[in-house]
Amino acid sequence: MSYIESMFSLEGKTAVITGGGGTIAHAMAEAYLKAGANVSLWGHRSESIESAKESLSSLTGAADRIQTVRCDAFEEDSIRSALQECTDRFGEVHILVNAAGGNRGKAPFTEVDVDLFREVVNLNLIAGLVIPTKVCAAYWSESGISGCIINMASMSSYVPLSGIWAYNAAKSAVKNLTAACAKEFAPAGIRVNALAPGFFLGKQNRDLLIDRETGDLTPRGRDVIDHTPFGRFGDVSELAGASLFLASSAASGFVTGVTIPVDGGYLTHNI
Ligand SMILES: NC(=O)c1ccc[n+]([C@@H]2O[C@H](COP(=O)([O-])OP(=O)(O)OC[C@H]3O[C@@H](n4cnc5c(N)ncnc54)[C@H](O)[C@@H]3O)[C@@H](O)[C@H]2O)c1
Repeated sequence: MSYIESMFSLEGKTAVITGGGGTIAHAMAEAYLKAGANVSLWGHRSESIESAKESLSSLTGAADRIQTVRCDAFEEDSIRSALQECTDRFGEVHILVNAAGGNRGKAPFTEVDVDLFREVVNLNLIAGLVIPTKVCAAYWSESGISGCIINMASMSSYVPLSGIWAYNAAKSAVKNLTAACAKEFAPAGIRVNALAPGFFLGKQNRDLLIDRETGDLTPRGRDVIDHTPFGRFGDVSELAGASLFLASSAASGFVTGVTIPVDGGYLTHNI
């Protein structure tokens, strides 16, 4: 094995990705499969995880290392069963990517739909972090496995974006809990880190950024580009390197509690 391979190979490792039918999940799954890992795509909609499996199989030729598990990240029992299915198939799980999440619309604060607010917080925080983390960390502690968790933070973990109040609140909590869980689980050898993607076109944010009819940038999409020193949206393939770095204990074995921005310089913006 070359030096680079020994640093970044994930051969023999198994990664679980929640929100497994999503855009960023797909890019991370592709990176992990190409690095030799088994990948279990967890999702609540069969069509999207099955179509992700199909596309990843043709991109990587690794159909035998891809599993799909239909589950509901809002339900602890469902996540426990998914973990069981995954260990039945691959033996052990080593990496958890908490990629279920997203925003729903935008509104002035005084017009916030409180039920929708709850839904977005629950999606990004409870389903998007708390339940899968609780279940996997307990499994790793009991089995003596030095697992690794990668959460999905956001630019709004650092600075709030207008109109998406619940998403801001949940994503700043994701960054906070990434550090808190890192300390909590360090004695068990479990690492907890996060990626904070800048703006990448996903299913959940496309309509906010691109006009569906014309294909042009929305005013908000234009603001984002103007505020991003690289002057463009990210391409999800640009998340692969940071995803591999955080997943590989050879590369990042002493890295825990950090959130890594992959943002084209968005957070450095100044005049
Ligand atoms: N795309 C971006 O620019 C960007 C930027 C920062 C952070 N993120 C975060 O990265 C993660 C993935 O985003 P993406 O852009 O790939 O989004 P996406 O919409 O393509 O994928 C999100 C995934 O979450 C799942 N999900 C949605 N609602 C759900 C529900 N009720 N129950 C269970 N799962 C549900 C979806 O099925 C989907 O698989 C999210 O946490 C998102 O907030 C994305």
